[in-house]
Amino acid sequence: MMRTDLAREPGAIRVRPAREGDLEAAAAILVAGFRGQFEAAFAERVDRAERIVARTLTLEVPRGLPGLYVAEVERRVVGTIALRRQTDPYASDWESSGILVDELGLWGGLRAMFCFSLLDQSCGHDEVYVSDVAVAPTMRRQGVGTALLAHADQVARAWGKAALALDVTARNETAIRLYRQSGYVVQRRRRLLLAGWLLHEGTWVRMRKTLTA
Ligand SMILES: CC(C)(COP(=O)(O)OP(=O)(O)OC[C@H]1O[C@@H](n2cnc3c(N)ncnc32)[C@H](O)[C@@H]1OP(=O)(O)O)[C@@H](O)C(=O)NCCC(=O)NCCS
Repeated sequence: MMRTDLAREPGAIRVRPAREGDLEAAAAILVAGFRGQFEAAFAERVDRAERIVARTLTLEVPRGLPGLYVAEVERRVVGTIALRRQTDPYASDWESSGILVDELGLWGGLRAMFCFSLLDQSCGHDEVYVSDVAVAPTMRRQGVGTALLAHADQVARAWGKAALALDVTARNETAIRLYRQSGYVVQRRRRLLLAGWLLHEGTWVRMRKTLTA
């Protein structure tokens, strides 16, 4: 596919902290971006994924949606990224579990919780953990992903961190290419048997970027 480059137009892509009004669009982008994993976790109830993600993100509104950023083009939300420090609390765990059970029933909710718990999102005290990097399907290959990661570098510097880390499935060659191009290198590859079985993604790659002074 030919690359059209919004990134070459100064100011065309703006990355900013997410607000409550962005959450529906952000949920749609996340579900489109991680469709396979939502299908595996929610099974036949995958049609509820956008609602569940939007409700879960909404839990963080009273705290100001810490760590969630969106990219916008012509005032439309077209991409998402989440950034977390080791000491930041996870989203309100009990309440998000309640949403899963409410939407998927007890068994479906427990199954989804178990699936998500298989993803190790730990990071070191000098690192920022990057997740939820997703761009709306019609807006891909125009530099939005690159702009989101450049913003992550800025946030990491402002937080006084030395590096950024993330996990990507080995099959996601597109994302791995984006991360390499943005300065990330492979730190390790891990085989996760349960994730392979339940999420159909058995090999995970930890990538890391060291920020230069
Ligand atoms: C991965 C993703 C975020 C990339 O976003 P994007 O806005 O399209 O990325 P960019 O336009 O900034 O592309 C930057 C580089 O990534 C690589 N890349 C992006 N899309 C690609 C594609 N379809 N084919 C090959 N390489 C691609 C290229 O190296 C590209 O640079 P180039 O265009 O100069 O060759 C997007 O494809 C997406 O949302 N995918 C689904 C969700 C996902 O997998 N997220 C990552 C989870 S870890």
